[in-house]
Amino acid sequence: MRKVYLDHAATTATRPEVLTAMEPYIVEQFGNPSSLHQFGRWTNAAVEEARDRVAELMGAKPEEIYFTSGGTESDNMVIKGIGWKNFEKRGHFITTKVEHKAVLETVAFMEKLGFTATYLDVDENSLVSPDDLRKAIRDDTLLVSIMMVNNEVGTIEPIAELAEVAHERGVAFHTDAVQAFGKIPVDVRELGVDFLAMSGHKFYGPKGVGVCYVKRESKKLLMPHTHGGSHESGLRAGTLNVPGIVGFAKAFELAIGELDAEHARQKKLADMLFNGFNDALDGVQLNGHPTDRIPSLLNLSFDKVEGESILLSLDMQGIAVSSGSACSSKSLEPSHVLIAMGCDHLRAHSCIRFSLGRENTEEDIEYVLRVVPPIIERLRSVSAL
Ligand SMILES: Cc1ncc(COP(=O)(O)O)c(C=O)c1O
Repeated sequence: MRKVYLDHAATTATRPEVLTAMEPYIVEQFGNPSSLHQFGRWTNAAVEEARDRVAELMGAKPEEIYFTSGGTESDNMVIKGIGWKNFEKRGHFITTKVEHKAVLETVAFMEKLGFTATYLDVDENSLVSPDDLRKAIRDDTLLVSIMMVNNEVGTIEPIAELAEVAHERGVAFHTDAVQAFGKIPVDVRELGVDFLAMSGHKFYGPKGVGVCYVKRESKKLLMPHTHGGSHESGLRAGTLNVPGIVGFAKAFELAIGELDAEHARQKKLADMLFNGFNDALDGVQLNGHPTDRIPSLLNLSFDKVEGESILLSLDMQGIAVSSGSACSSKSLEPSHVLIAMGCDHLRAHSCIRFSLGRENTEEDIEYVLRVVPPIIERLRSVSAL
């Protein structure tokens, strides 16, 4: 049976070129980069080379790049780091109702410790309003955290404008940009953010490695969230994941090199998928912004069918999709993102996320368009919705 992987927003396969770059650092060049002897110096040089390259590719300075274990840790590092720094007087966080759990649950944890938080509403396309942000900022606001690209619906938030609003009131700005890299250009100077989270496994790098960008002038706002060593300029203790870091930089470099060509190619495939569904079926609705979106992600609601039933039926045909974000896909709660966008529960329960990637072809899309419409018709014919 044909296998079609359409869940690239959940994770991607590590590219062979990335694996090749990593391999020497697993067996031969195994030294601890903190060691002073030559084994340590070799791996330290590899880490610093990776740091330089990553910084250059996103408009940062090398000393502003902190390697972490992924997007979740990078989000925690900033939110908790600001929290620990202001622990005595506490303070206020602003985020949105459509963030990934890595932000939402970390802010909720800070609330349990006595901090306060505002969760901004979004419009029907998942866009955050700069005016709403302006009104929500208080004298005790410590941080604004707003994601760059939504992982469930693909909407691109106006980060540069939102960061400016926060800065007008002297408040630091963090963006979770995990879903943006490899899909749209990201330059931290142009965005004007203080902190940014990224993750290697979303752009064909290894799992368990990410970056937290910390603007040089904003480092003083953070306390370390881990203790146990002076690694990463004292902000993130723990032996560095050298093969992961080398793989991260390689994957990032390859993704940037292919950005424009892949953007155009995947947009064509996504349009083909969307138009094909609409030609074959009634009651297919796009969730997310119609234009301010990454092209590789299509979140569609199929009227009168449960997303989970579609997902399981497609899985039996070799097609991998998601019925929400990967982290909530085992829960039967409707997506918090679609609910925040004002979708009713029926529509929120009937959504499927198709996320395309570099290995998808026109033949894959033709296969999906052949297989999926009859499944939807059959599920509708037995649906109690
Ligand atoms: C927007 C967003 N933030 C954070 C994460 C978590 O990243 P990681 O898996 O590297 O911890 C994800 C992963 O799905 C994500 O989509």
